[in-house]
Amino acid sequence: MDPFIELDNVSMLYGSNGTIAAALRGVSFSIAAGEYVAITGESGAGKSTLLTLLGGLQVPTSGRVVMGGIDLSGLSADGLADFRKQTIGFVFQAYHLLPYLTARENVIVPLSPERMSSREKADRADGLLETVGLSGKENRLPSELSGGECQRVAIARALVHDPAVLLADEPTGNLDTTTGEQILDLFSEWHGRGKTVLMVTHNRANLSRATRTVRLRDGLVEEDRRMSPSGRAMGLPG
Ligand SMILES: Nc1ncnc2c1ncn2[C@@H]1O[C@H](COP(=O)(O)OP(=O)(O)O)[C@@H](O)[C@H]1O
Ligand SMILES: [Mg+2]
Repeated sequence: MDPFIELDNVSMLYGSNGTIAAALRGVSFSIAAGEYVAITGESGAGKSTLLTLLGGLQVPTSGRVVMGGIDLSGLSADGLADFRKQTIGFVFQAYHLLPYLTARENVIVPLSPERMSSREKADRADGLLETVGLSGKENRLPSELSGGECQRVAIARALVHDPAVLLADEPTGNLDTTTGEQILDLFSEWHGRGKTVLMVTHNRANLSRATRTVRLRDGLVEEDRRMSPSGRAMGLPG
C-alpha cells in the first residue's frame, strides 16, 4: 500500500481548568489514496479529534500527521489554511453554514481566495448544488432549508474546490434514514471518482459503504479491518 495519509504516534491532550483529557494516546496508521475509511467508536473515543487533526484544524500535542508527503505539524497557520483549501473538504455534523448567506453563497465560500470570476464561482456552486439535488434552491437561506438540505449544501461546499480528501464527522447524524442514504450515495459517488473519504459514523448501516473500518476506543485504535467488496470484514492484509 502506498500511504497517502500517515498518522505516526499521534497524541492529543486537551487541558482545561487544571485537568487534562487525553483524546488520542499514540495513534498510528496509514491510509492509501482512494480508501473509504469509516471511523467508529463510542462517544469520547477521539473520533472528532482525529478528524480535525487530519483536516489541519488542530495540530497534535505530539506525533506526526503527514498527508501527500507534507508534515502538517511543520506548517504555519497560513500554511495549514492553504493546505485545507487545496486538499480538504470538511463536513461537520452540525452543518456550520453561515446563516446570513444563501445556499449558493455558502458553497462559494471555499473558492473566495481563488482567481476566479464571480460568474465562474456561481456556475461552479450551482453545478454542485444540482449534484446534491438542490437546483432551484440556490438563493435560499439556511433557515429556509430542511436539515437534510442544509447538510447537502454543506457537502456541496466541501466538494466545490475538488479536494482530494473528504472528511465527514457524523454527516448523517441529524438526518432521517432516507436523507442519510442520499448523503451516503453522494459520498460513494465521490469515492468512486478516486477520492479518499474518511467518515466518522455511529451508524452500523453506514459501515457497508466503506472499504475499511477503524474503531477507536479511549484514544487508541482498537480494531482496523478492510472490507471485501461484498461488505464482509476481511483480516488485515500483511
Ligand atoms: N476542545 C476540547 N477541550 C477539552 N476536551 C476535549 C475537547 N474536545 C474533545 N475533548 C475530550 O477529548 C475526548 C475525545 O473527544 P472527541 O474527539 O470529541 O471524541 P468523539 O468524537 O469520539 O466523541 C473526550 O474525552 C472529550 O471530552
Ligand atoms: Mg465526535
